[in-house]
Formats: sequence, C-alpha cells, structure tokens
Amino acid sequence: MNHCLRRYHTFALPVRARQVITVESLEDLSRAYQQVQRAKQPLLLLGEGSNTLFCEDFQGTILLIRLKGLQVEERAEAWHLRVAAGENWHQLVDYTIQQGMAGLENLALIPGSVGAAALQNIGAYGVEFKQFCRYVDLIDLQQGQPVRLPASACQFAYRDSLFKHLEHQRWVIVGVGLNIPKAWHPCLTYGELTPLSTPVVPQALFNTICAIRRAKLPDPLLLGNAGSFFKNPLITKHQLQDLLSRYPDLPYYPHSQRQVKVAAGWLIEQSGLKGCRIGDAAVHQQQALVLVNLGHATPQQVLALAKHIHQQIKQQFAISLEPEICLMGATGPLNPAEVLA
Ligand code: EPU
Repeated sequence: MNHCLRRYHTFALPVRARQVITVESLEDLSRAYQQVQRAKQPLLLLGEGSNTLFCEDFQGTILLIRLKGLQVEERAEAWHLRVAAGENWHQLVDYTIQQGMAGLENLALIPGSVGAAALQNIGAYGVEFKQFCRYVDLIDLQQGQPVRLPASACQFAYRDSLFKHLEHQRWVIVGVGLNIPKAWHPCLTYGELTPLSTPVVPQALFNTICAIRRAKLPDPLLLGNAGSFFKNPLITKHQLQDLLSRYPDLPYYPHSQRQVKVAAGWLIEQSGLKGCRIGDAAVHQQQALVLVNLGHATPQQVLALAKHIHQQIKQQFAISLEPEICLMGATGPLNPAEVLA
C-alpha cells in the first residue's frame, strides 16, 4: 500500500491505495486501464475526491481523472460549452460569470470536478446541474468506445444519475456538454436569496452564493469534509403531518404528489448532535449535515459518528437517513444500508 490518499480526497483521512495514476489524456486512460486489467486489480476512478468517504485502504489502483479542456460555441440563443471532466467545477462557474455567460452562479463554490458534477447531478439554492446539461461523453473502458448520451438519457434525479448505477470499473465520464441560455433567469427562491431585490446582476448573485456557502460550509482545504454527508430524506405527506404535529418548525420542501423532502440538517440539530464528536470526527457547528475531520480523524471514527447519527434520527423521527456521499470499501463502493445498520 504505497500511496497515501490524504491529498486526493477532501475528507483528508489517512488511507492508502496500492497505486495512484494521473490521467491527463485519453491515451493515458487506455494505457492505465490495460495495466490495471493485466494486474487484475480493483479500479477506482476519482475526480477531486470531494464526495467520497474512504472507509478503509483501497486494495487497488486509483485513476485520477485530470482531463482538461473547454470549448465555447456561441449560438443565437445560448452558449454551448464542451468541458472536459477533469476541469474544476467552481473555476468553470467563475469563468462563465466573468465572460458574461450567466446561469451557473447558484452552483458556485461546489467542490469537485466537472465529471463529478454530472455523476452527482450537483445542486444548490434551487438549481441543479441537469438544467444546463446537453450531453455527457463517456468512454466504455472495456470496448475502448466513446459514447455521447443526451441529457434526456442520463436519468438525472436528486443527487443521482444513470452514471451512479453503471458498472463502476467500466464507464468513465470524460466530458460534458452544457447549454447556457442567453436569456438569464436568476433563481432567487432559496430563503436567504429572496431579500436580493431584482434587478440583480449575475456577479452580485455569484458573490452572495459564495458568501452564504463560506458562512455555513467548511472549506475542505482547512477542515476535511465532503459536504452534506446525508441526503435530505423523502417522506410521505402523511408522515409529514404526524411530524409537524410534534415539530411545527420542521423545514420541508415539495417533491412529488405523495412525498416531501425534509431538512436532514434540522433533524440532526434537533437531536442535539450539532458539535457531537467521536475522536476527531465531528458534526459541523455551522451545518449539522456536514461531518468534519478536525485533524486526525480515522475512517472508523467518521463511520462511528455517521452510525450514531443514523440511529438517533431513526429513533427520534422514524426516518432512515441515506448517505449522500459515496462510501468506498477496499475493492469498490459499499452498500450504505449495510454500513450504517
Ligand atoms: N438546518 C438547521 N440546522 C442545521 C442545518 C440546516 O436547522 O444544522 C435547516 C436550515 O435552517 C434550513 C434547512 O435546514 O431551514 C436546510 O438547510 P440548508 O439551506 O443549509 O441546506 P441543506 O438542505 O442542509 C442542501 C444541499 C446542499 C446545498 C444546500 C443549499 C443536500 C443533501 N444538501 O443542504 O448541498 O448546498 O441545500 O441548496 O441536498 C452537498 O450536496 O454536499 C451540499 C452541501
């Protein structure tokens, strides 16, 4: 186990892998894949590691996707961008705003790569990646074939996409196509944005989003974390009525005819777990949905804390939280229900 993974994932845990290979071109990708196949080793494709919890050492090879490149095409009503998967998401958002291509501002400061943004269908402050996606470019590593999937085939949903359910050692996202309409419709529906009176300019909205995030969410360079640890759970409207009779302040959002989404951070705070700590793993003081590494946390400590939260929320609210982040085992992703049981 030669390679320390601390700087390759934002939780910054002291975990290791057999091998780490940086992929900067499609040739690198093909060469690295063949090498891993020959060695019959488990393979993990990683962007900036901002949504992964390594639960133990990884007994195989990690390919760091660092494919770069950006092409912009101006159309009558929109800009069409083709962005390589290894570009940094926030730098892309910043660039588009600077260039007068407004639209992505609510997704500012989300850590991670462009490829991960598609995989995860990132979202914040009322906006999701899928609203801007035209297509996703993949490579089938087994066949060596490129495939371009239109957004309509990507099965985007709340922090979910087709790509999360494909064979994880076979398909790799190499780029995405974005459509940024020239007609700008700022999304100000999120509570803390409604005071921004219109007309608002894109740069001001971008700055406000950055300020909100900086106030609540820890900078992974200073305090290890992977953003929201759990998803906001979906419950039935019937369950909601029951909970509201006991907790009238429970924040919830419409989801479908039958279901609503409730704020997991609020549930965790209500359980008195804000600031709760196991070793160096802790519930963040400013946002209870985020677990942080105070410096020397181990995977075991983070998992013990996550299990404790899971149990408490189940006991108090009869809600089973699901991880939002990927739990990575020694040879591949773990089943979250088994890990948290
Ligand atoms: N809340 C509390 N206490 C807390 C945290 C939240 O009471 O400790 C309450 C807030 O007051 C608010 C509600 O819960 O009424 C929702 O909180 P917030 O607006 O901070 O957002 P969130 O639902 O906790 C989600 C996303 C974030 C995204 C924000 C803003 C998920 C799992 N998380 O968090 O995404 O930035 O909304 O849109 O959907 C991420 O995916 O990693 C992430 C950070």
